[in-house]
Amino acid sequence: MPVRIIVGAQWGDEGKGKVVDLLAEHADIVARYQGGANAGHTVCIGEKTYVLHLIPSGIFHPHITCVIGNGAVIDPAALLSEIDQLQQAGIDINGRLLVSHNAHLIMPYHKMLDTIREKTADKIGTTGRGIGPAYIDKFMRCGIRIVDLLDRDILAKKLAANIAEKNQILARVYGETAIDVDKVIAAYQEFDIKIDPFITDTAVYLNTALKNNKRIIAEGAQGALLDVDHGTYPFVTSSNPTAGGACTGLGIPPTSVETIIGIMKAYSTRVGNGPFPTELHDETGESLRTLGHEFGATTGRPRRCGWFDAVATRYSAMINGITKLVVTKVDVLDGLETIRVCVGYEVNGRQLKSFPTDVKTLERVTPVYEDFEGWKTPLASTRHWEDLPKAARTYLRALGELTGTELWMISVGPRRDQTLLVV
Ligand code: IMP
Repeated sequence: MPVRIIVGAQWGDEGKGKVVDLLAEHADIVARYQGGANAGHTVCIGEKTYVLHLIPSGIFHPHITCVIGNGAVIDPAALLSEIDQLQQAGIDINGRLLVSHNAHLIMPYHKMLDTIREKTADKIGTTGRGIGPAYIDKFMRCGIRIVDLLDRDILAKKLAANIAEKNQILARVYGETAIDVDKVIAAYQEFDIKIDPFITDTAVYLNTALKNNKRIIAEGAQGALLDVDHGTYPFVTSSNPTAGGACTGLGIPPTSVETIIGIMKAYSTRVGNGPFPTELHDETGESLRTLGHEFGATTGRPRRCGWFDAVATRYSAMINGITKLVVTKVDVLDGLETIRVCVGYEVNGRQLKSFPTDVKTLERVTPVYEDFEGWKTPLASTRHWEDLPKAARTYLRALGELTGTELWMISVGPRRDQTLLVV
């Protein structure tokens, strides 16, 4: 019966991939509920590193069935290339990957519009994967879903209408050349043949699994502060990575959710534009980036780095209803003399009571810091909570208390065994 939702509680890249892979050992199904190939989930198994964009991070466990739900947006070329990579790495996905027939398709014009718009309008710093434009069409009710691939006439009609409209925008607003409808129809029919074996009604599959007491992990992409409703709008992604998105993005009832596991990095990072109150523009920021390998797994862009922000994460814990907290990349802080945590925001000398969601205020806040003693010893080989230096335990306990969550698990490196349960 139980569903465990794994959410990123910051601006994404918290290390959800590793945690999902780890917890998948005790699950039957891992289901991705939103986003698209904008995500980059890194999973390290032994000496090998895999980066997944669409396929859930449970795929490395042969007993797991992976589901991509209706809430995700699918770029078939990206999906097929990921399937290819996994197969080449010897991972058998046959019968283990199910894709919702209701998921919307990312089209070439979505990617074009995403990239062109970033050049001209106020930059969000998107990944250029067509995510925003695909969700625009979904909510405009003119999007093309996987189910539409089944019928050539319906596909042709819908694509012709979409492309006619997009060609107007591309030509008139951006001076771009027109898209050839027939080429797109041919390419997507080709994709259809290849992705057909994976398509099904995943909501029915998941609800049947729930009735049969199967254990489901709902995997979020990005992070709560990038949520289109609850994040730092407009510098957000175009879906709901927050826990509520799991129910709509998979078609499972809220009553099936047992636990919400929030993943937070021991410091903060953000890719793309938008306010980031604890950002460091100094050597410490640079060293977090280098030691933490803070470069986008999808775009390779350097991530902006800063101190842990307990105001933002407390807000995130509230919106998500986080019941268990996992703190990742704690080892990245190993060398620091002092570690700072933002415990409050001030604007014009006034302390704010809550996390401001309007970016203008968030851009103006001055973080109020509490300093913690560093542990100055490598943690990568520590395997038990009691063996952590006292300063590390104090820091980690403080993150749990400041965010109002129960500290549950700690990660001190990318590998599966570099994980400690908090006792
Ligand atoms: P989009 O999702 O490509 O539209 O990009 C919108 C914002 O979300 C940009 O700031 C991206 O950098 C950010 N973003 C999208 N996916 C991820 C992710 O997986 N990790 C971190 N940031 C992301």
